[in-house]
Amino acid sequence: MIDFTLKADHPATTKTDSVAVGVHDNQKLSWAAQDIDKASKGALAAALKSAAFSGKAGAVLALYNLPGVAAPRVLVFGLGEGKALSAKDARATGRALASAANEHSVAEFAVFPAADGAIDAMHHMVLGVSDACYRYDETRGTAAKAKIAKPSVKRVRFGMPEVAAKAAPSALKKAVATSHGVEFAKHLGNLPGNFGTPSRLGEEAKKLAKSHGLKVTVMDRKAIEKLGMGSFLSVTNGSDEPPRFIVFEYAGGKKGEAPTVFVGKGVTFDTGGISLKPAGDMDHMKWDMSGAGTVFGVMKSVAELKPKQNIVGLVVACENMPSGKATKPGDVFTSMSGQTIEVLNTDAEGRLILCDALTYAERFKPRAVIDIATLTGACVVALGSVNAGIFSSSDTLANAIIASGQKMNDRFWRMPLEEDYQEALNSNFADMANVAGREGGAITAACFLWRFAKKYDWAHLDIAGVAYKGSGKEKGSTGRPVAALVDYVMSME
Ligand code: BES
Ligand code: MN
Ligand code: ZN
Repeated sequence: MIDFTLKADHPATTKTDSVAVGVHDNQKLSWAAQDIDKASKGALAAALKSAAFSGKAGAVLALYNLPGVAAPRVLVFGLGEGKALSAKDARATGRALASAANEHSVAEFAVFPAADGAIDAMHHMVLGVSDACYRYDETRGTAAKAKIAKPSVKRVRFGMPEVAAKAAPSALKKAVATSHGVEFAKHLGNLPGNFGTPSRLGEEAKKLAKSHGLKVTVMDRKAIEKLGMGSFLSVTNGSDEPPRFIVFEYAGGKKGEAPTVFVGKGVTFDTGGISLKPAGDMDHMKWDMSGAGTVFGVMKSVAELKPKQNIVGLVVACENMPSGKATKPGDVFTSMSGQTIEVLNTDAEGRLILCDALTYAERFKPRAVIDIATLTGACVVALGSVNAGIFSSSDTLANAIIASGQKMNDRFWRMPLEEDYQEALNSNFADMANVAGREGGAITAACFLWRFAKKYDWAHLDIAGVAYKGSGKEKGSTGRPVAALVDYVMSME
């Protein structure tokens, strides 16, 4: 875990391995670059000229041994054409600075954000640095583990311009806590299905509760049966892995104050069940617990930030497997709400586990319930991997989450939640079917959940397209949308 601090004085005199200063697109120097240029008697500006440094956002240039500068390396980062770096560019800059530092085996560097938008830039750079320094190695062999290049960066110091000095400490705290939550979500998501089981999630929940002072209850099959979660349990029929229902409670608000409840889909592996998925890319379905991972991440960040609110995190965890005992298409089950469900497609299992958690959420008399789920391929078709889908029965709730998503570049696009779509879920044998046709698949999935979320303000986040990158060098969890949701919680402070 990287130590982020605010201990840095002047760019030219800070004793550290590297100092990072910004330069605009026309080689116009930021306040910090001016400080370096002055101390080095114009050597910085001359070097920029020789290197024809573009100043493009995201670009980084390394300079060595500038005269009059205490640090042996100066990392120049582009500030682009705009007044301030965008969230996306600041994140990329954080990543680029950390990668440059890691390449040079640098243990510590100091960053001096430009005056315009310094606080936001710092926030996103923290997330970028921690992203670039994240390594997954839990299931590598010992020989490979030793060889995986561990990031050299241990500490990053921010030297803030005068205008941002007052707001910096709390902003940094929030950024760092967010990065811890994101990293936790990533790690849980990346665990293979045979490691990241429902029981493992239960253990992780207890560990997190212990280290971060949260209340947690981890329920086993018997306790889940007792709650009457017949819909949730129908998904577990084919699996030998025991299910878990996890309830986190964070009490930062007044006693009895209505909490915000987060609900995460935790299908630790989704084969589709008897409605078996095709073989290609089926490994992606280890990430079908990314909604649960998000809840873990948000609870971790919240426990570190200690907002004056009550927050509940619910995680529904199980596997979806075919077997002689598995649910068959056409089987009917009774949900905790009493509504019966005809399971026409066992691969539409996310809604079956979430609906019982949404009913359970009623007991908290919540101010809002937000579920997070890799729910439908249809949402990926509709929105790709840029925006997650948001469906909500409350404009206020939806707008607040969308605003946080914009701020964190962890974006959502509002999708329709309208009664007209409900008809497609009609069944001749139960109160509803679990699937409609192919048309509007992300919407009908949301409509199914809506039937269980009538007693409170509710938002459903379909993160199937954004929770992980499915191929390439960056194949892995993204940790989305932890950053947006932590910002949403903190925006209510
Ligand atoms: N976990 C999947 C959704 C998914 C698809 C997540 C692709 C990430 C990437 C979900 O359980 C599922 O299988 N949904 C079905 C629903 C269908 C049977 C109505 C789907 O999207 O095909
Ligand atoms: Mn499925
Ligand atoms: Zn699924």
